[in-house]
Amino acid sequence: MDQKREHKPHCLILPYPSQGHINPLIQFSKRLAHKGITITFAVPQDVLTSSSAADISASIAVETISDGYNSAAARADADPREYLVTFKKEGTESTSRLIEKLREGRGRAVDCVVYDAFLPWGLAVAKSKGLFGAAFFTQASSVNVVYYNVFKGLLKVPVTERETVLPGLPSLAVSDLPSFVVDQEKYPGVLELLVGQFDGVEDSDFVFVNSVYELEEKANEWMKKSMSIQTIGPAIPSIYLDKRIQHDKNYGLSLFKPDDICMRWLQQRSPKSVIYVSFGSIAKLEKHEMEELATALKLTGKHFLWVVRSSEVSKLPENFTDEASGKGLIVSWCSQLEVLAHDAIGCFVTHCGWNSTLEALSLGVPMVGVPWWSDQATNAKFVMDVWKMGVRAYPDDGGVVGHEELVRCVNCVMEGERAEEMRENARKWKELAKGAVNEGGSSDRNIQQFVSTLMGVTLSLSQK
Ligand code: UDX
Repeated sequence: MDQKREHKPHCLILPYPSQGHINPLIQFSKRLAHKGITITFAVPQDVLTSSSAADISASIAVETISDGYNSAAARADADPREYLVTFKKEGTESTSRLIEKLREGRGRAVDCVVYDAFLPWGLAVAKSKGLFGAAFFTQASSVNVVYYNVFKGLLKVPVTERETVLPGLPSLAVSDLPSFVVDQEKYPGVLELLVGQFDGVEDSDFVFVNSVYELEEKANEWMKKSMSIQTIGPAIPSIYLDKRIQHDKNYGLSLFKPDDICMRWLQQRSPKSVIYVSFGSIAKLEKHEMEELATALKLTGKHFLWVVRSSEVSKLPENFTDEASGKGLIVSWCSQLEVLAHDAIGCFVTHCGWNSTLEALSLGVPMVGVPWWSDQATNAKFVMDVWKMGVRAYPDDGGVVGHEELVRCVNCVMEGERAEEMRENARKWKELAKGAVNEGGSSDRNIQQFVSTLMGVTLSLSQK
């Protein structure tokens, strides 16, 4: 930062190019833009062309970098280790070029690179250009505690003990741990990616986590002893929380096209009557798992809205869509936040991806957790035992979550003895989430502090 400038502080945002990472980083960008920071959001070209980027907030400029793959299909088929090596090489080069290009543009020199912790090379790029570097963690602080302990060699993997006790966390059974800590073989290279999020993080000028301080207080306290993490979440559109950012209703860079029928269909349902089912943007259930879920939904006798991505539709039982038409609506994608915010939704059957979990929590919707992989089992543990706003459906001895278990869980959340208590807790967390991002809340203060630091630095440079 050696040159004289007269511009607003400028952050270059580098998300990992998947929906679950783009969404929180876009929302963080909008919060920064709202507080006067210039934002450039950098994604591979295909992310831009395959999404409705026109919806992205006018306050965010979008530019492209290369991950060396440049197609969602190629990315999905790639070996994770090869993908990350290629992305590191191509991403380092293309991001460096982008920073130079922006430096040449009038008043658009970058001050800080906010990099997804999945892309730790973002810090090296920032430092090589003399810029601030800020790591952004997209998973829960509690999950960070687990991976950080693996990173430090304090938790040996694969974990085989029945109970794992880690600082800041409740005691975790094997089934509560992030899946890759227990089984590295099934998806080789993924644990390295997750643990590698901490590579060089001690040299980052800022470390952000998409969570709410009070939601995971003990985990946050413990992480703070090792690095100065700052919680900035929930990173979801403002309209669902504090409403301070006008028209901020959608994330704005959707890789899937939502079906508009959902809201009209929900409009015809009574309050708290519908089961909403979605497993996010990545999970691939087995055919027999889909069958169990289909049977369960039928057996509940309740209305349901089920998101089955186009790539998964062939796994639905034959004629299920037609048979279900009286009670159920199956769509390939929806605007999940709008759905969760609708009064007709009574519970959310979710894989407990961190974004889905935070969204349900922010909108006060009780959950049935059916974790599929990664951090989801740990999130489900917190939903059930810490936040007490849902239950987890457990697999049988054969590893399958059966229809009886699913029906039991849905009934428990929607009408069981504890249903009202869970709804009450959900309302409590909703208020907490709103308060965190509202003016003076814990996340707002952290964002403001970051903004003030950047403003202070650019101001002093412009006065030199
Ligand atoms: C991934 C991981 O699987 C998850 O465990 C990790 O915490 C984040 O990255 P994904 O599986 O896609 O993400 O789940 P999730 O984190 O829930 O993110 C999905 C996003 O897509 C959410 O923001 C959700 O609102 C959105 N979505 C999902 C829709 O907008 N419409 C849908 O129909 C389904």
